[in-house]
Amino acid sequence: MKHETVCGLDIGTTKTCAVVAVEGPNGLEIVGFGEAPSLGMRKGVVVDLEATIKSIEAATEKAERMAGVHVSEVFVGITGEHIRSTNNRAVVATISEDREVGSADVRRVVEASKIINLPADRQIIHALPRFFTVDGQEGVEDPVGMAGGRLEVDTHIVTGGTTFITNVLKCVHRAGLESAGLVFEPLASSAATLVPEEKQVGVVLLDIGGGTSDIAVYSLGSAIYTATVPVGGNILTNDVSLGLKTSLAEAEEVKKQFGAGIEDGAQTFTVRTLDGRTSKELTTQQLKAIVVPRVLETLRMAKQKIVENVPRDLVLGEVVLTGGGALLPGIAPIAEDVFGLPVRIGTPSGIGGLTDAITMPQFSTAIGLVMFAANGEYEPSEGARRGAGSLFAKIRKWLVELWN
Ligand SMILES: Nc1ncnc2c1ncn2[C@@H]1O[C@H](COP(=O)(O)OP(=O)(O)OP(=O)(O)O)[C@@H](O)[C@H]1O
Ligand SMILES: [Mg+2]
Repeated sequence: MKHETVCGLDIGTTKTCAVVAVEGPNGLEIVGFGEAPSLGMRKGVVVDLEATIKSIEAATEKAERMAGVHVSEVFVGITGEHIRSTNNRAVVATISEDREVGSADVRRVVEASKIINLPADRQIIHALPRFFTVDGQEGVEDPVGMAGGRLEVDTHIVTGGTTFITNVLKCVHRAGLESAGLVFEPLASSAATLVPEEKQVGVVLLDIGGGTSDIAVYSLGSAIYTATVPVGGNILTNDVSLGLKTSLAEAEEVKKQFGAGIEDGAQTFTVRTLDGRTSKELTTQQLKAIVVPRVLETLRMAKQKIVENVPRDLVLGEVVLTGGGALLPGIAPIAEDVFGLPVRIGTPSGIGGLTDAITMPQFSTAIGLVMFAANGEYEPSEGARRGAGSLFAKIRKWLVELWN
């Protein structure tokens, strides 16, 4: 029996990951995974086409070999400082004679919500329905079939700079792949790490990568704010290297091993000097003095964006940290202090075929890409939520509706 495959491609600042999943009898299952270092990306955007193409080819080939399938279409993660988000509302009159909301009305109203003031060099990546309002009745999740003459939708709109998007797509195409669609990375990470209850109560997802830290805030079940801050784990390694006067490679090592997690002065470690000839002994207290201020700064930048953009009366239940940066020893208590909320570290779950090696925060985006695409959680019409229709049909429909 032939299964439908869905593939994700996360071109991160430090690594590129390809995921191949199939819709099997027990739901979505990962059957292929490939990772390769990213050498052509900086802060989430392409700075070297050739290097990025090589990374994509290497990661995809590995995933293909493991899955035993040829990959031609991938859902591509996208991030960077060029991304902006906003919420919009649109209204249409339903067209059927019996005043019943049809899926065509839903499509029209979501389309109408995409009419925003957009400079020529920007394009819409997502128009995610948050809720519908039918004849004044708010908070409708799925309006199809309801009686009503006036249909409104509140959507979360994500836009990106066309140049940046085009460069990512150029690399994808030159690596021999078609793009099935773009997904703003924290939305993918959320699909892999958050559970519906968290999204309902209110949650902040923070994906701390190498070059960027991406934010997605959910409330009442849907995304209400998304953003990115141009700081991630790489700058921390840089700080450690400068502060301890050692190589980037050694700085990365000690950052990962001790981070901010060891009690002051409790432990010593040795690193080589910059010229590599001698070693010196340092304390974890010295390391912590370098790490903590940068981590605080990054988390405060994220919090600042949220405070400025998310309504104050909105209840937020917790913060979920993911991305490689979430592995920093001691980061959770620092984040709890900054946000004043409980913090957990998010790893991918809710999909079959997860092995220990990939159930790691740095793979949330890549794995989330296939989950986001397959879940159809954003799909504004009947079908997906009730599990009807094939995965492929759902994705096609989504593409037609949201990327045209
Ligand atoms: N155990 C660890 N402790 C601290 N930091 C870690 C650990 N493991 C990985 N990191 C850091 O995580 C970062 C890479 O994270 P990730 O793989 O999520 O980034 P990316 O997806 O390539 O980049 P981006 O999302 O910014 O484009 C690096 O800065 C790395 O140093
Ligand atoms: Mg990433």
